[in-house]
Amino acid sequence: MRGPALLALALLLVVGPACCARHPGDLQTQLMLSSGLNGLLSDRSSLADPLVADLGLPAAAQDQQQEPLANPAVHTLFSADSAIGRRAARASLQRPEKSAGFDPVKAAKLAQLQSISYCAALDDVANWNCTRCAQLPDFEPYLVHFDASWDLLGYIGYWPSMGAKVIVFRGTDSSSWYNWAENMRAWRTDATYPVDGAPPALRLHSGFLILWNSSSMASTFHAAFGELLKLHPRGPTYVLGHSMGGALAHLAALDLQIMYGLQDVKVYTFGSPRVGNSVFSEFFSQKVSESWRFTHGRDIVPSVPPQLLGFRHVSREVWLVDVDDGPAGVQQRIVVCDDTGEDPSCHNAACRLGLCTSVADHLVYMGAHMYRGGEC
Ligand SMILES: *[C@@H]1O[C@H](CO)[C@@H](O)[C@H](O)[C@H]1NC(C)=O
Ligand SMILES: *[C@@H]1O[C@H](CO)[C@@H](O)[C@H](O)[C@H]1NC(C)=O
Repeated sequence: MRGPALLALALLLVVGPACCARHPGDLQTQLMLSSGLNGLLSDRSSLADPLVADLGLPAAAQDQQQEPLANPAVHTLFSADSAIGRRAARASLQRPEKSAGFDPVKAAKLAQLQSISYCAALDDVANWNCTRCAQLPDFEPYLVHFDASWDLLGYIGYWPSMGAKVIVFRGTDSSSWYNWAENMRAWRTDATYPVDGAPPALRLHSGFLILWNSSSMASTFHAAFGELLKLHPRGPTYVLGHSMGGALAHLAALDLQIMYGLQDVKVYTFGSPRVGNSVFSEFFSQKVSESWRFTHGRDIVPSVPPQLLGFRHVSREVWLVDVDDGPAGVQQRIVVCDDTGEDPSCHNAACRLGLCTSVADHLVYMGAHMYRGGEC
């Protein structure tokens, strides 16, 4: 009877809030709604987290289990605060059969580029003279675009040392990440993808599609990418996104690959939510040449919207796990996951009944702080 009872509890937790939450018709409002689950979680004790406290997040937003996870059967170490080179140089992958093509040094640099999307001083990004920019001195920004009415931001540029065009999407610049993520529990896969060649069974959440194609993002980046492609016709295209920006990155990568017939599109996302159904995930895998979807510890966002509502993550997940190594302190390990998109031994394993609750884990990837009050 244990199995059915657990399933019933899972349905109560996952479908319960979903059934009664407002349907996400108006996305702007939807992002701000809070859910009944907050009350449930705030009853539990939690340790203060200075990062979360800085954001003014409710106590419920803090990870309920601050102790590091049990050591999974994994590998790569780097200490969370060291410089990019040092932390990546110490990386060693333990699942070589799954790790082919994964480059931790490159990933750490891309996470740094991702973190720059949270710089509040947009002019400093456009001029590439922000403090974080100094770590990647040769990057050439081409366009920084902020859509104020949708609160969306992305930038595009050329990276000579990689011979690559790079597009980066920020997540919602919000002090209510937790509420935002909670609201996504209610989302359903209900939009078709309006692009030639998309399988008829492909479904996306209409909220992400609306953010991408009803805001100025799709039109702006389609055009800017076309201009950059004329200047730099060769080399790969990297599409990056954190949080909701991860959802935009998946959609942007598909659009650009199809529009421009690109051969080499590489997608790196950090703490992305699920975007569409399994047909979407498979279509995505066929179109892009490389995809690494980073998750961290018990980050809340990759656990939404839930699998039970028809969503499936894209492959291939890379799970960052903070492990207490005793005298060595807390070290971060990199687990390269299987190619199903939903490896049960990766981030999914850290979420009870499919629910993860950490905002703190959402805001740091590969040692780069994604949001710290607009810090540059
Ligand atoms: C970056 O350059 C711009 C234009 O030269 C300047 O206005 C701005 O103050 C600079 N920012 C920093 C942080 O140096
Ligand atoms: C955006 O997606 C919707 C839903 O599929 C579609 O009807 C619409 O034509 C798209 N708009 C643009 C500008 O691509």
